[in-house]
Amino acid sequence: MSGAAGVPGRPRVVLGVTGGIAVYKACELLRRFTESGHDVTVVPTAAALRFVGAPTWAALSGRPVAAGVWDRVHEVPHVRIGQEADLVVVAPATADLLARAAHGLADDLLTNTLLTARCPVLFAPAMHTEMWEHPATRDNVATLRRRGAVVLEPAEGRLTGADTGKGRFPEPGEVFALAVDVLARGERAGDLDLAGREVVVSAGGTREYLDPVRFLGNRSSGMQGYALARAAAARGARVTLVAANVTLPDPAGVTVRRVETTAELREAVLAAAATADAVVMAAAPADYRPAGFSDTKIKKAEDGSAEPVALVQNPDILAELSRERPRPGAVIVGFAAETGEPDRSVLELATAKLARKGCDLLVLNDVGGGRVFGSPETEAVVLDRDGGRTPVPRGSKAALAHVVWDRVVARLGA
Ligand code: CTP
Repeated sequence: MSGAAGVPGRPRVVLGVTGGIAVYKACELLRRFTESGHDVTVVPTAAALRFVGAPTWAALSGRPVAAGVWDRVHEVPHVRIGQEADLVVVAPATADLLARAAHGLADDLLTNTLLTARCPVLFAPAMHTEMWEHPATRDNVATLRRRGAVVLEPAEGRLTGADTGKGRFPEPGEVFALAVDVLARGERAGDLDLAGREVVVSAGGTREYLDPVRFLGNRSSGMQGYALARAAAARGARVTLVAANVTLPDPAGVTVRRVETTAELREAVLAAAATADAVVMAAAPADYRPAGFSDTKIKKAEDGSAEPVALVQNPDILAELSRERPRPGAVIVGFAAETGEPDRSVLELATAKLARKGCDLLVLNDVGGGRVFGSPETEAVVLDRDGGRTPVPRGSKAALAHVVWDRVVARLGA
């Protein structure tokens, strides 16, 4: 078990690892935590140690491994480790661990730690699809969520054998990013104010094809939408992320639908919006698309001439959502990137856009003065249809994402 009482000022993370094959991915997760200055105590179950041995965990965490309730009993590890933690992450979490945690068993050090921890707890389950879908596991997950734990939805894809389905462990870097997001909320981290809520976020930029190889597109990176999806998952929401041509890894615990065109984006967003409590349109759908599509690659003219490209307008998804209101009471959020005009400020333009689109909240990004897309930082004002304005100072896209969800939660409450 861990000897030192932790390093002052460094967030104390307990990494519980359990006996599934995905436990090798937890080594990468552990590296991310330690390299970014977290003080990590690894608590493996006996089954986890059959996959990855204690020397690996000790070497990567830089601390002795806390494996048993009967080691260093005078330090009362079964109580102290949980009490002192700022965050407990169980990754991977097997069906067996979820069951034991849901029933409050305390038959090893990890389950004791879960009973004594008063900090946020994050489970990243990984198992075969059948086990994840079994009613017993469904009930256990529901119980843990109801008690305030964040239980991520596993990713879909290749499983241990030849089969594929839901049950994969997400990208370790994405589990790390989500854990950091939970920790960054500080005292509010345990307040899962989106638990039981379903939200939809769109991200990225659409492509409108001229022929099989050419398209009209834009420079949206998708980073803000991905930060919004991650922040919602960290606050307990069930999240559908509709991603248009984004190259970032799938956020952990989020269902990702990939689309290319505005028409596909519209279809995916409207389908998911039917049951959603909130829809955030962070994507940049093209306002126009080519009027025609050539099935074969368009050849350039021999004589050096060029044909103008005829365009038609795309449907405005945000305006349609705001008008049709697929689910009454749902909060609809738009984004506006404005440069300002000689006689109208960005705030005036955004206020007019909020009214024109009919959404509930509008996030204004001032993109004038050479501010570029793709930056990890942002600055914004969140406008409320009732006239409220929340300025968000320059900072991370995660920080802005949380302000947006704060405003959404406030409106859902009202
Ligand atoms: N949007 C949408 N469907 C479109 C275009 C935009 O849903 N076809 C959404 C975006 O996701 C964003 C908001 O509308 O949330 C603002 O987009 P913007 O392009 O700034 O608005 P426009 O109405 O196109 O205004 P402008 O004339 O300033 O381009």
